[in-house]
Amino acid sequence: MCEIAVQRLPNQLTSFVGRRAQINDVRKLLATNRLVTLTGTGGAGKTRLALQLAAQMVAEFGDDVYYVELAAITEPNTVPVGMARALGLTDVPGRSTMDTLERSIGDRRILVLIDNCEHLLDASAALLSPLLRTCPNLTVLATSREPIGVAGEVTWRVPLLSLTDEAIVLFADRARQARSDFRITDDNRVVVSEICLRLDGLPLAIEMAAARVRALSPTEIRNSLHDRFRLLTGATRNAVHRQQTLRASVDWSHELLTEPERTLFRRLSTFFGGFDLDAALVVGSGGGGEPTPVVDLLTLLVDKSLVLADYDQTHTRYRLLETVRQYAQEKLTESGEAAAVRNRHRDHYTAMAALVDNPSRRGHSRAVEQAEAEIDNLRAAFAWSQENRDLEHAVRLETRTDLARATRPRSGSPRLIGAVASLSRRGPAGPTIRAPARPVPRSPRVAG
Ligand SMILES: Nc1ncnc2c1ncn2[C@@H]1O[C@H](COP(=O)(O)OP(=O)(O)O)[C@@H](O)[C@H]1O
Ligand SMILES: [Mg+2]
Repeated sequence: MCEIAVQRLPNQLTSFVGRRAQINDVRKLLATNRLVTLTGTGGAGKTRLALQLAAQMVAEFGDDVYYVELAAITEPNTVPVGMARALGLTDVPGRSTMDTLERSIGDRRILVLIDNCEHLLDASAALLSPLLRTCPNLTVLATSREPIGVAGEVTWRVPLLSLTDEAIVLFADRARQARSDFRITDDNRVVVSEICLRLDGLPLAIEMAAARVRALSPTEIRNSLHDRFRLLTGATRNAVHRQQTLRASVDWSHELLTEPERTLFRRLSTFFGGFDLDAALVVGSGGGGEPTPVVDLLTLLVDKSLVLADYDQTHTRYRLLETVRQYAQEKLTESGEAAAVRNRHRDHYTAMAALVDNPSRRGHSRAVEQAEAEIDNLRAAFAWSQENRDLEHAVRLETRTDLARATRPRSGSPRLIGAVASLSRRGPAGPTIRAPARPVPRSPRVAG
């Protein structure tokens, strides 16, 4: 077998930001596990983190570190060939590529970074299972929006950038590339923080927003984020196609969904500030058929990194990144079922509002607490009622909001109360309430 030029780790042309703790965590995992998969939504920084890790581990592996890029591979059968090429191996007549790989790796101590497995999960599993079994010193670091599903695999969710420092440093650095005199100053710091917050600390989106400083001020960038897919299109020539725009990145995930998953995905865009399983069951059901239960579809969307799940001891709360939510909302509008889905959303939260109407009812304080947590959904339901000139629902929702405000002064919405009052006074043609404010995102959990 002859060796060909080996593609080692690709050079990075931009600076790497933060992630110290994460690098430590994953290195520890790699010391005791043979397959670690970095998961997370598109643009979260999986590839970049994996490359940084692999570069730091070169000495440890005596230079035996290889990079396998699956993004451009569409044919599952060619995955082993892709890996063989990356390792500098060529085909040997009469021998299968798997055989060639197993013989070449043997008991060498080697680290292979396999990037972008999400569209080739079965083929990746079929490659890695036997290799990990027969090559005792092979360690694999993979990136994928969804776990590969091989025995012994440890998945680790790449968190979004910290909004207090990493995201701002990344923005400032990439903005300086676009305009060398860009600085974070006392004047623009708050606006830049707000941009990073509204982009959920998603590195891909932050880089694209920062590139816009060439022609726009940070304030103008912030003000354009409601239409982020149009704003964040800056293509860098060396990026893989699907990462060139924010839309292409989410498109890629969407393309990999089954039809029932797509249906639930777009319906979830009606939620603001997250949602719980009960609400997902109500809003996600409907339309007949539904061979796969909503709870299973929701789990699949979590697996595919399109829905984030935050757990506390008793409850799981789900949310979509705002970028992903806006994309799903477009799909909902295109589907023609938006009104029916929003009505289900409104009915669910109006029923919740009714539970806080009666302070002498058992479990009232729990109901108030729950309604407090759902303030953004209540506002969205209210806005929808108002848009439909549905005074009955609007008033029922407003009543609850007033109660929540009385219980915990800062979380009520005087705007709702004022708007309902004006709706009642002026009849059907009331003003439309703007979309509810985004809550501060919680930090994602790390799955180990
Ligand atoms: N920690 C980081 N420091 C600097 N740039 C980053 C960092 N994380 C991500 N990026 C940049 O953000 C973009 C998206 O990251 P990438 O690793 O490609 O995401 P993913 O692989 O999860 O889709 C890339 O241009 C990458 O260089
Ligand atoms: Mg990637």
